[in-house]
Amino acid sequence: MSIKPILFEDDVLKMLDQRLLPTREVWLEYRDYRAVAEAIRTMVVRGAPAIGVAAAFGAALGAREIFAASFDDFMREFEEVCAVLAATRPTAVNLFWALERMKSCARQHAQLAGSDLKQRLLAEALEIAAEDERRNRALGGHGEKLIPDGARILTHCNAGALATAGYGTALGVIRAAVEAGKKVAVLADETRPWLQGARLTAWELQRDAIPVTLICDNMAGYLMSKGEIDCVIVGADRIAANGDTANKIGTYTVAVLAREHGLPFYVAAPTSTIDLSLVDGSAIPIEERAPAEVTHIGGVQLAPEGAAVRNPAFDVTPARLITAIITERGVATSDFPARLRELVAGS
Ligand code: MRU
Repeated sequence: MSIKPILFEDDVLKMLDQRLLPTREVWLEYRDYRAVAEAIRTMVVRGAPAIGVAAAFGAALGAREIFAASFDDFMREFEEVCAVLAATRPTAVNLFWALERMKSCARQHAQLAGSDLKQRLLAEALEIAAEDERRNRALGGHGEKLIPDGARILTHCNAGALATAGYGTALGVIRAAVEAGKKVAVLADETRPWLQGARLTAWELQRDAIPVTLICDNMAGYLMSKGEIDCVIVGADRIAANGDTANKIGTYTVAVLAREHGLPFYVAAPTSTIDLSLVDGSAIPIEERAPAEVTHIGGVQLAPEGAAVRNPAFDVTPARLITAIITERGVATSDFPARLRELVAGS
């Protein structure tokens, strides 16, 4: 059983603090939507689908604080709650997708009494979470067919159970391959600056007894040149209509290396990560995070005081470098604009 990092139990939202893994497993409790927004911003919870799920629960908690005389008044205040949750991280589209879904759920149930509407919104958040895990298992089923027995798979960042409501996207494909009886070996990029690969991917795969070897980000090219990697699988934070894909910083570098070495480069993501409103990746907002994430590791200063720093948290891999985009509704291998439209429409 892979871990579920977000639980709603005893009327409380509980999230595994991913800032402390792997050395400490601490669950934090949330009753206030503002605290949920802060948890998303400070990366207690991270990974595109998980951010969406957390925001949906945040919206449900926020709705409980609203005591309005009419549905219109309720909706005005609910929009404000959602705006606070939306203003946390800009790149992962799942955040905005989940909040839109919560708002549309409220509108569809405008006739309900206040307390029933709040219950309905909580039910919607629970459904978003359950659906995310189902989607990941389905995309794993499609994706594992692309993985040969014995494959040595490179992954970047953490697109695992920890980044979702459960099972994972890129790591979901790997889990499904293992469940199908294939022997696989995972190479995990450490993923500077936040070290999602070293801290999270290595932890969750080790926990599930899936063979994982940690490498520094700058080792992937060497290992590819030695024939020690068979394919690459990553997750996504936002996929534009043409297939250009934003994912954790360093993904683009790995995609270029994969092309140079003739290796398949797969993106695994639920359709909630596809943003058909953007023609290509150039319009995807890229989050810039604090310089301290680059100058320090685990609170230890590495760079001289006052060093100039850039810290873009994501990059965009052009569609031409992507072999296939794996979703819960099937796989896109060519003509991404048409195929992604079909997949989003559900055909
Ligand atoms: O900054 P993070 O840790 O939220 O970034 C996460 C990633 O880039 C993941 O690869 C992506 O969200 C896919 S998670 C299934």
